[in-house]
Amino acid sequence: MVHELYKAYIMKVSLCKSNPREWNMEKLRIQILPSVFLLVFILHSGPTTSQEVEDEQEFDYVEGSGKGPEQWGEIHPEWALCKNGEMQSPIDLLNKRVQIVSHLGRLKRNYRPSNATIKNRGHDIMLKWVDGAGWIEINGTQYVLQQCHWHSPSEHTINGKRFDLEVHMVHQSISDNKTSVVGIMYKIGRPDTFLSKIMGYINSIAETKEKETVVGVVDPKNIKLGSRKYYRYMGSLTVPPCTQDVVWTIVRKVRTVSREQVRLLREAVDDDAENNARPVQPINGRSIHLYRPRLRLDN
Ligand SMILES: *[C@@H]1O[C@H](CO)[C@@H](O)[C@H](O)[C@H]1NC(C)=O
Ligand SMILES: *[C@@H]1O[C@H](CO)[C@@H](O)[C@H](O)[C@H]1NC(C)=O
Ligand SMILES: *[C@@H]1O[C@H](CO)[C@@H](O)[C@H](O)[C@H]1NC(C)=O
Repeated sequence: MVHELYKAYIMKVSLCKSNPREWNMEKLRIQILPSVFLLVFILHSGPTTSQEVEDEQEFDYVEGSGKGPEQWGEIHPEWALCKNGEMQSPIDLLNKRVQIVSHLGRLKRNYRPSNATIKNRGHDIMLKWVDGAGWIEINGTQYVLQQCHWHSPSEHTINGKRFDLEVHMVHQSISDNKTSVVGIMYKIGRPDTFLSKIMGYINSIAETKEKETVVGVVDPKNIKLGSRKYYRYMGSLTVPPCTQDVVWTIVRKVRTVSREQVRLLREAVDDDAENNARPVQPINGRSIHLYRPRLRLDN
């Protein structure tokens, strides 16, 4: 903002110089404008939240930047869980800790095509469904699909192994506003068909913080799970405020995404979020279940 005004001013001065009739006006401007700049600068650097300040990322993923993951819990009192929370996400899904169960049942997805917009939030790219896009059902509770967004590399790890990409489909229950996230991980290989469809939209909002564009009707069913097996555990949001009591479902099968798709998602966001995976968090005795169907036919 200040820079733009200053640039405009410099341009104006150079234009005026070529026109003698405006020289007096120019003298006046030279006297007044610096104080205008000062005023604008003070307004914009003060603690009051102007648009400019809001747009600036309050957290990033760079260790030692002062607002990296190890500091999130100190940035705002409301973000304290990022530091003190005992059930934080992501975690490592270590085989030894995982209890295989069949009672959880297949993940019930009841999605429908719905209008969506795509937004560059600076720390990630988010596809948001505007009207109801359907729900998933877990333990008798319905969670309505709100949005999905991408992290690269993956946030969850399996036996310490990190993958290239992870999508989070974020759901909210209507009755008690609880969050449930379905995560799918990808490694480099064949392109992901869902991402292929929206590559153009992602490109159009690349490196334009807080820009949103209308995508039109998007069917969430096209975000494929590829397997019925999934991990289930209780965790948190992986970005501030790190809210807990999030019901996590991580699909067991690691799907594929092309190198180009990962590059596009990474380059679209801010430089300090190109690597937007929070480090894994302590398990603190939490149980991790792996749902596996009883019948050999259902894999
Ligand atoms: C999507 O939005 C368009 C334009 O507002 C509307 O005509 C259409 O019915 C919507 N489609 C769905 C599936 O909601
Ligand atoms: C499932 O729901 C029942 C009844 O609402 C509750 O008692 C139980 O603790 C829930 N189980 C899990 C794993 O959340
Ligand atoms: C529901 O939870 C979400 C995420 O935790 C929060 O952003 C939203 O404000 C909550 N809504 C209500 C009505 O409490």
